[in-house]
Amino acid sequence: MYEKEISQRKTFAIISHPDAGKTTLTEKFLLFGGQIQTAGAVKSNKITKSAASDFMEIGKQRGISVATSVMTFPYKGKWVNILDTPGHKDFAEDTYRTLTAVDSVILVIDCVKGVEEQTRRLMEVCRMRKTPVIVFINKMDRDGKDPFDLLDEIEENLSISVHPMSWPINGGRDFKGVYLIPDKSLNLFESSKTKKADEYIEIKGVEDPSLPNMVGEANAEKLREDVELVDGVYGELDLNDYLSADVAPVFFGSALNNFGIQEMLDTFVEVAPNPLPRITAEREVDPTEEKFTGFIFKIHANLDPRHRDRIAFLRVCSGKFQRNKGYKHTRLEKSLKFSNPYTFLADSKEVAEAAYPGDVVGLYDTGNFKIGDTLTEGEKLQFKGIPSFSPEIFRELINLDPMKSKQLEKGIQQLTDEGLANLFVQELGSRKFVGTVGELQFEVLQYRLEHEYGAKCRFEPRAIHKACWMTGDANEMKEFMKYRQQNIAYDKAQNPVFLAETAFILRTAMDKHPDITFHLTSEAL
Ligand code: G4P
Repeated sequence: MYEKEISQRKTFAIISHPDAGKTTLTEKFLLFGGQIQTAGAVKSNKITKSAASDFMEIGKQRGISVATSVMTFPYKGKWVNILDTPGHKDFAEDTYRTLTAVDSVILVIDCVKGVEEQTRRLMEVCRMRKTPVIVFINKMDRDGKDPFDLLDEIEENLSISVHPMSWPINGGRDFKGVYLIPDKSLNLFESSKTKKADEYIEIKGVEDPSLPNMVGEANAEKLREDVELVDGVYGELDLNDYLSADVAPVFFGSALNNFGIQEMLDTFVEVAPNPLPRITAEREVDPTEEKFTGFIFKIHANLDPRHRDRIAFLRVCSGKFQRNKGYKHTRLEKSLKFSNPYTFLADSKEVAEAAYPGDVVGLYDTGNFKIGDTLTEGEKLQFKGIPSFSPEIFRELINLDPMKSKQLEKGIQQLTDEGLANLFVQELGSRKFVGTVGELQFEVLQYRLEHEYGAKCRFEPRAIHKACWMTGDANEMKEFMKYRQQNIAYDKAQNPVFLAETAFILRTAMDKHPDITFHLTSEAL
């Protein structure tokens, strides 16, 4: 069912190290999609200072960032859904989770800086999930690294083969444009921040006698040599290698100057995968199945402290999602109806009557959802692939106002449902440990607990090295948990977790208990 709708949908995320140009590229895509008329309409979600108040302020300025969490635009007969990912490293987990809801990604690399730390981490997640990747090498108007060196760097650092689709003619101040390898056409560079479309010049390959007139004799000669080398090294692109995430097609351009984007977008809508099947704990779900299924990959708080409702983002995996129809929340085993679900058209929200596989729907939530929850028409399913990673920083939650214990309890439960941090509760004495990947989350938590729930608290550093989920022999685990009682806590799904104080203690536990496997993600459970 719904083959036509499915074949029209392309759901993807743009990922990059902060400052490589993700926001600029997103904006240019929306310009092409006709969803915005002028540049500058998409606000950056960059958090530059490490303070909760700035984070909240930025959130407000962005119109709660909900509007830009998902951006949908029509292009060449397709519906393109871009899922936004936070750039700040402290929110990396949010990005990993968003990657479970897309079918492909576009990776932006700054030609001056090359492969950076966060690019590497994000690509690890893509590789794990076998997500097809297109690479955009940005900022060609700046003096960057040699294109061959950049391609080698990508292959070596990101463990993926590359295939150049376009080739730059010079770079930096002398950037002349790109040669489109499969089309044998030229896209000549002009610096313009307001330009809307590129003009392509058909030529008869790099041997075309008019080439030197257009780019200069020396550049023409260099391009001929480069393209000969590229042909020899990279050969022809096999689309199956792209779809199986073994090879990444590469484009060169300048997002700021809206240059080189159109050819990438045209290729993207042609080759990027349509909504793909997804795995549940029970079985694989195909998008063409008649019955609706979907899962929550992101929860966004309403930043107006007077309203505690939230927005849960649902990815439709199969069938047709309909407004006002009852669906089963499989974890809570209850039926829920949504009277105002919405879809996202660039910077506006619209009430959705229906949504199809690949689409993302925003659902008002009063506390029913946590990340990873599944909705179906009745079947008991649980979508997989939303791992929790062991946090890096651990603190104990200390209540500063005993009169507000209830508010604190509710607040910490709800905020950790949003995926802002991990909560581990100890059986004895119910001590609560909060784990995050960055410092900023503690500030955000503290700020929001006080402003949204009226609860005052403090976070005290605790010497915990890693949180390890455990699987293995039941008796052995029982013994171990009894012996290490002080270091055992439970995650939100009631899975026992070993909070190892040091790497040495963890290694010793592993050596002493070969029948228990200690996992640094909850994925294996
Ligand atoms: P991000 O979302 O990946 O963090 O990056 P963003 O798009 O915000 O871009 C980071 C900076 O790089 C911005 O400059 C942006 O204008 C610039 N930039 C993006 N694409 C290009 C390009 O093709 N060429 C050049 N030369 N610069 C580019 P900024 O000074 O930080 O911000 P702004 O004041 O220009 O907005």
